[in-house]
Amino acid sequence: MKTSSLVKVTKAEKSKIDQVDFDNLVFGKTFTDHMFVCDFKDGQWQTPEILPYQPLTLDPSAKVFHYGQAVFEGMKAYKDTDGKVWLFRPEENYERINKSSARLQMPEFPRDFFFEGLEQLLNLDKEWIKSGQADGNALYIRPFVIASQPGVMASPSTEYKFIIICSPVQAYYTKDVKVKIADYYSRAANGGFGAAKAAGNYAGQFYPTRLVQEEGFDQVIWTDDTTHEYLEEAGTMNIFFRINDTLVTCPTSDRILDGVTRKSVIAMAEKLGITVEVRKVTVKEITEAAANGTLKESFGSGTAAVISPIGTIAYKDQVWDLEKPENCYSATIKKAILDVQYNAAEDTFGWRHEV
Ligand code: COI
Repeated sequence: MKTSSLVKVTKAEKSKIDQVDFDNLVFGKTFTDHMFVCDFKDGQWQTPEILPYQPLTLDPSAKVFHYGQAVFEGMKAYKDTDGKVWLFRPEENYERINKSSARLQMPEFPRDFFFEGLEQLLNLDKEWIKSGQADGNALYIRPFVIASQPGVMASPSTEYKFIIICSPVQAYYTKDVKVKIADYYSRAANGGFGAAKAAGNYAGQFYPTRLVQEEGFDQVIWTDDTTHEYLEEAGTMNIFFRINDTLVTCPTSDRILDGVTRKSVIAMAEKLGITVEVRKVTVKEITEAAANGTLKESFGSGTAAVISPIGTIAYKDQVWDLEKPENCYSATIKKAILDVQYNAAEDTFGWRHEV
């Protein structure tokens, strides 16, 4: 293992890996033997540590519990057939967590702590990363920052914890996703923090998502909060529509998460010769295209979701099932991106980062 002067490492006495059934993983339920922790206090980040995975002790008045001052990231590490471990565009996640933190008035995390911590953690827990592109085997990496200062005054914390935990995973969605377009609830507002990967952006979706789940759908496709006429994102995924042979997705904004998989899909689709339009997408356009058959396919993109085909779209009381076309874009783009992630194809974009 590479040694580090930046990170203090305390290894777990015994690995839990033998207790894990890697063929029957429930997404995000199993965690590896170690975690990365770095505290912010007295105006600076302290010495980062890798510790055995363990519960946290926080004062019940810690600001994260009361004001939701918390942000996170989702990344994955992949193992190739030679046992080498790769991260996909980690620089993007590093930059995005700091952007999210800035929006929630939290301190920037140092680059060398982030990358050194990740490398050390992945080297210690690399046995937990299984190869197997077909099964979607990967290690889901969850960096997050929480406000840990005790005290219920509604003001930014002066103390934080930056933590990274890792979970062996397979596919997030095992079936085509059924979505319903929002016509009342909103995920984010202009000038709000929808573009930040903030914990509260997810909590706020749970109730409207449960309502559509009671109708048999999996997720809401969010629309703009002012008119509900424009399609935005699906909460755990950015969304793409194929109208005839053009792939369409809406631009990012301060309401929409700037997804790493989203921008990779756009770049890869263009490389594959697919026409991509990044422009506003109206509910009217998509529901009409679904009704007249020009909506050939739709899919969501995200680190957890990878590229997940949407099988059903609903709006108010109308429901459309989408048949997969023969030259399915989602399957072609997904394969091309997975091949880069698992080191099974040339990385012409420079996206892979060896651990
Ligand atoms: C990810 O794709 O990494 C996400 O953060 C979505 C998550 C809520 C599962």
